[in-house]
Amino acid sequence: MNNKIKILILPGDGVGPEVTQEAKKVINVISSKYELDIELEDALFGGIAVDEYGDPYPEETKNKVKNSDAVLLGAVGGIKYDNLPKEKKPESGLLELRKQLNLFINIRPIISFPELSNSSSIKSEYIDNLDIIIIRELVSGLYFGEPRGFNKDNTEAFNTMRYSKSEISRISDYAFKLARIRNKKLCSVDKANVLEVSQLWRSTTNEISKQYSDVELSHLYVDNAAMQLVQNPKQFDVLVTENLFGDILSDIASVLTGSIGMLPSASINELNFGVYEPIHGSAPDIAGQNIVNPIATILSVAMMFQHTFGRNDIYNSVLNAVKLVLNEKKFTKDIAINNEYISTEIMGDLIVEKLMDEKK
Ligand code: IPM
Ligand code: MN
Repeated sequence: MNNKIKILILPGDGVGPEVTQEAKKVINVISSKYELDIELEDALFGGIAVDEYGDPYPEETKNKVKNSDAVLLGAVGGIKYDNLPKEKKPESGLLELRKQLNLFINIRPIISFPELSNSSSIKSEYIDNLDIIIIRELVSGLYFGEPRGFNKDNTEAFNTMRYSKSEISRISDYAFKLARIRNKKLCSVDKANVLEVSQLWRSTTNEISKQYSDVELSHLYVDNAAMQLVQNPKQFDVLVTENLFGDILSDIASVLTGSIGMLPSASINELNFGVYEPIHGSAPDIAGQNIVNPIATILSVAMMFQHTFGRNDIYNSVLNAVKLVLNEKKFTKDIAINNEYISTEIMGDLIVEKLMDEKK
């Protein structure tokens, strides 16, 4: 890793610029501490790009993405764009980015820090030291299936849930590999009692499991999985599921950690190229107030070093810096206990301080 590393930042909309600002501070410290030659560049993406170019994912940004080694994304979307035609919606830019780079593996770790066990609405005994990972298939399923659209007079609308066997195989293969280096337990989530797509999902996953006889595979219907996730989350280690189910289950699972502001994610392809982003959205209601929690984005930076740059040491040291700050009971508003909280910027500064003090 002696060469220059180019990280592209897409701050996006709402709280996006605030959280990526704090993440940049962290990247700069990583760069000096680990003596890495990191170049940071920004580009327009999402609603802000619609305002400027009438396109959520403009050509100029596409070129910058192509020339980068990894991408950090803030968040996209806002009320003002809700009524635009589909291709102009900020979310369409995000889906195009995922599809274009074939980022079919979406990794969503659900880690609950003991300091936050009182911030969750779930009793602490169920979530203390919880550490599970949701693997969400990200470039197929209902989000992308054709045909889709409205009928002529807009009185009917339709989407298609569609998966090929090879799309199911490659994501379940990734999940099995991950389960193998963790607790050797994989739960595949589907709706095979109703959907043909899920029947193919289940039979394919069973087939792949033959190559991983050391991993215990179980299956759950998605409605049951949603319930089990809040009722008894510690039964899980790695979960794998299709695009829409993964979207929904990961928001449910965020409750277990105390706040969706804590959850990072990685979206990668088979070459480990990735877009790293917090799971939360653009939260326009709190944007510009310096109160959003930057930890999800900072942990997304940690995941970038882990997955794209193969630096587990850097992942661990960022995670540890976050833990040290939480340990001192320094919380942003979303995880605050007696309404005593610190700002977005201060949270970023404190994490940076811990990172600088830590031994390599
Ligand atoms: C997510 C988000 C996106 C999704 C939206 C913004 C398109 O909710 O990353 O979870 O649905 O995938
Ligand atoms: Mn979502």
